[in-house]
Amino acid sequence: MNGKKLSCVLATVGGFALLASSFVAAADYTHEVKAQKMTFAWKVNGDKLEVKLVAETTGWLAVGFNPTDGMKGANYILGYVKEGKVTLTDDFGDNPVGHKTDEKLGGTEDVTLVGGTEQDGTTTIEFAIPLSSADANDGKIDVNAETVVLLAYGPADRDSFKTKHKFRTGLKVNLSTGASSEAGI
Ligand code: HEM
Repeated sequence: MNGKKLSCVLATVGGFALLASSFVAAADYTHEVKAQKMTFAWKVNGDKLEVKLVAETTGWLAVGFNPTDGMKGANYILGYVKEGKVTLTDDFGDNPVGHKTDEKLGGTEDVTLVGGTEQDGTTTIEFAIPLSSADANDGKIDVNAETVVLLAYGPADRDSFKTKHKFRTGLKVNLSTGASSEAGI
């Protein structure tokens, strides 16, 4: 699987502002990690984590936090852009190779859409999640500890959360400092 070959580059993008397609001013992101054709940028803002995901796909892209066994146990946010409209879902890994929406599992959708675009084969989504939500399945993110961050995206033009990843990888990230390394997942 090509996702296992990770080239991880850490960069700081302080003071970088973006305008989403809807002209909603997006967050400044303080840290960024690149894994092949996918980028995870973020900022810890009080009790929220502001996230920007970019991937070379016209299908879905996603981030997962702190799995316990394969895909199981992680809090996932997946999104895609279709005809200019962003669709996001807040899911939980209910088994090692799958996930369900938090709502289906009796929890709540805890994600705030900021924006998203699909342009020249690249999709960008921006959103915010609480570091500690009321939904037990979301888990708690300790920004000073090591967080396992899963990144994945689906094949082109498959705007469906049921399609398996074309790429996936895992990183260990200190969300506070931006330090990262391969998680070997
Ligand atoms: C969208 C629907 C998804 C489907 C149908 C799916 C399906 C699967 C399947 C069948 C496997 C086992 C085979 C393999 O290793 O490739 C797997 C593994 C994995 N997936 Fe997914 N996946 C989905 C989404 C995601 C997302 C959003 C992420 C992370 C952001 C993710 C991360 C992983 C990881 C890390 C593994 C390896 C687990 C291990 O340690 O064995 N998957 N997935």
